[in-house]
Amino acid sequence: MSLEFRFANQQDLNTIVEIENASMSSPWTLDSYKEALDSDHAFIMVADEAGVCVGFAVFYLTAPESELPDIVVSESYRGRGIGKLLLDASLRELSLRGVDTVFLEVRVSNERARALYEKMGFEEIGRRKYFYSDPIEDAICMRLEIDS
Ligand SMILES: CC(C)(COP(=O)(O)OP(=O)(O)OC[C@H]1O[C@@H](n2cnc3c(N)ncnc32)[C@H](O)[C@@H]1OP(=O)(O)O)[C@@H](O)C(=O)NCCC(=O)NCCS
Repeated sequence: MSLEFRFANQQDLNTIVEIENASMSSPWTLDSYKEALDSDHAFIMVADEAGVCVGFAVFYLTAPESELPDIVVSESYRGRGIGKLLLDASLRELSLRGVDTVFLEVRVSNERARALYEKMGFEEIGRRKYFYSDPIEDAICMRLEIDS
């Protein structure tokens, strides 16, 4: 595997939308990713396997805080450590940008994502009732303090 981590560019957007659509029940639109790409207060980190985007993570920045609203690894690439490496690379970037705390929400039933976040050191700080639709489900709110 020749894996590298870099910022997304315009050429990645169609692949990002394809990966998102194949994985999420309420997927983000192309415009949402364009907005994140163009914003000074967001970045999209890409896992690049031989020139092809195989996973990505979107971060919103309001330093010293950040939010992780969307992370997906393409289905056939899951379970190989890419999600963890993608978060490692993103956390290094966040730290450089003066972020010390990251927040996210995750579906209660999403055991794979919860296991990944816990492994990265995220801690549960609360729950939001009926936060998700399609299907309706509670969210677990998590927080990570980044060591600088
Ligand atoms: C969540 C997601 C990004 C994880 O990516 P990934 O590349 O598969 O994750 P990794 O291979 O780095 O695994 C990291 C940890 O997650 C957990 N994990 C991985 N595969 C798992 C599985 N099949 N079942 C349970 N836990 C699993 C393990 O704790 C693993 O660590 P380990 O391998 O050291 O035991 C990926 O599963 C995904 O894209 N899911 C669909 C989209 C999604 O749900 N996004 C999150 C929304 S909040």
